[in-house]
Amino acid sequence: MRSLFNRKGRKDSPTNEAPFQPSEAIPNHIAIIMDGNGRWAQKKFLPRVAGHREGMNTVKKITKHASKLGVKVLTLYAFSTENWKRPNDEVNFLMQLPVDFFDTFVPDLIEENVQVNVMGFIDELPPHTKKAVENAIRDTKDNTGMILNFALNYGSRSELLEATKKMAKKVQQNELTLEEIDEETFEKELMTASLGEFQEPDLLVRTSGEERISNFLLWQIAYSEFYFTRILWPDFSEEVLENAIGIYQKRNRRFGGL
Ligand code: IPE
Ligand code: IPE
Ligand code: MG
Repeated sequence: MRSLFNRKGRKDSPTNEAPFQPSEAIPNHIAIIMDGNGRWAQKKFLPRVAGHREGMNTVKKITKHASKLGVKVLTLYAFSTENWKRPNDEVNFLMQLPVDFFDTFVPDLIEENVQVNVMGFIDELPPHTKKAVENAIRDTKDNTGMILNFALNYGSRSELLEATKKMAKKVQQNELTLEEIDEETFEKELMTASLGEFQEPDLLVRTSGEERISNFLLWQIAYSEFYFTRILWPDFSEEVLENAIGIYQKRNRRFGGL
């Protein structure tokens, strides 16, 4: 029988070790590093991009489920500032995916009352990708339910540097004093500023077995709870999401206090 325990001795999810309780607190902001699309495809002797296409279907499924559970913000890491290093064909495919995704999914998003937000260096995207995300933001702007926040051409180090530059410029132009620089004024310059009270993920999930951050939300995850699973993103399911939430509900968040 295949062991339920992975190499690190941890149980592979999903399990019922921490059953999800609908009556307990649902994390307001869930962020997911959607990883393992390429490996999913390779395991099936398919081209890597087949994994990205299947991963897109997982995004649809998980968006609907998170919205139904009452999650306020779902942030999905879709493309990092480092992912341009990949072969052109794969990058081109990944830049076409948002077009296909929104073409087929905006009506569902409207029905679910989900609002689309995109954070990242949007101006560097190819015109067709940029247009697709701008249209989706426009078409869902009146929705009042969950925010589906895509990190697209996002990198946290660049985000922090940009925020620092904006602050420095404000000081230079006498719009801000050094004394006024604090966490609150700094956060206003980050790409998550529009998320208001939900800027910080309560729960950060990474699929595929990698246990690293890969330049994601370095400031915002200061007190996030982490959940790592070996499940590859195309295989991620509603059940695994609920398992992650169940584990989150068992955690004791202390924020440095007692
Ligand atoms: C995640 O899957 C999607 C993106 C980074 C765009 P990967 O493409 O990184 O899949 P693996 O990690 O190579 O299996
Ligand atoms: C992180 O995954 C970025 C996204 C999921 C979009 P990567 O696959 O690019 O990360 P590394 O290279 O394994 O750190
Ligand atoms: Mg990867």
